[in-house]
Amino acid sequence: MNATCRKTHWETIYSTKAATGVSWYQSEPQLSLELIRSVAPPRGARIVDVGGGASLLVDRLLELPCSAIAVLDLSATALEITKNRLGDRAQHVRFIVADVALSPELGTFDLWHDRAVFHFLTHAHDRRSYANLVSKSLAPGGHAVISTFALDGPSRCSDLEVCRYNAQSLARELGQGFTLVTEAQETHTTPWGAAQPFLYAVFKRG
Ligand SMILES: C[S@@+](CC[C@H](N)C(=O)[O-])C[C@H]1O[C@@H](n2cnc3c(N)ncnc32)[C@H](O)[C@@H]1O
Repeated sequence: MNATCRKTHWETIYSTKAATGVSWYQSEPQLSLELIRSVAPPRGARIVDVGGGASLLVDRLLELPCSAIAVLDLSATALEITKNRLGDRAQHVRFIVADVALSPELGTFDLWHDRAVFHFLTHAHDRRSYANLVSKSLAPGGHAVISTFALDGPSRCSDLEVCRYNAQSLARELGQGFTLVTEAQETHTTPWGAAQPFLYAVFKRG
């Protein structure tokens, strides 16, 4: 799928479905938060939630002592949903409408979080662009918390094909310069009760 189709697809999803009615909806992004806390981002850390969409992770990050929080998504509609939910607190968040496969200029972060975005990159050149972007955007010593469908997870999501990973294959995609720190599994339950095995992996940039 090319970048234009990708954008149209996700804008349509967020304009036609309730944020709480999509398969990936979580009332609490518990494991993401645990893993973010486990790498003890320094006081004043710069954090980006990539493909954050309408996730509640940003609400919880605002409760941590971070100095800069950004939420990036392809869909401006998704980010509007998040802005409206946050109300006044939205002024403390940088919202970035961008495609992670198109090498946007993002600045520097100490922590990169991605739940359920990388696995949509089914073309090798998009995955290489993503890996280059993580390298370029993470400060040395910074961490990436990346979550994808696990090897036994669904082969499609939101009518799109996905790639599935274990920690080793995900590490290979990121390439040299990243060390696997820890991994975890989670079975996510969709709003209609389907079980979806996810992999979570934490990497440190050397
Ligand atoms: C399955 S949803 C996950 C949303 C959120 N991370 C969560 O856990 O609730 C995937 C999100 O990634 C965004 N997305 C998909 N492809 C993207 C890309 N190439 N660049 C940036 N965002 C993208 C979509 O708009 C959507 O919000």
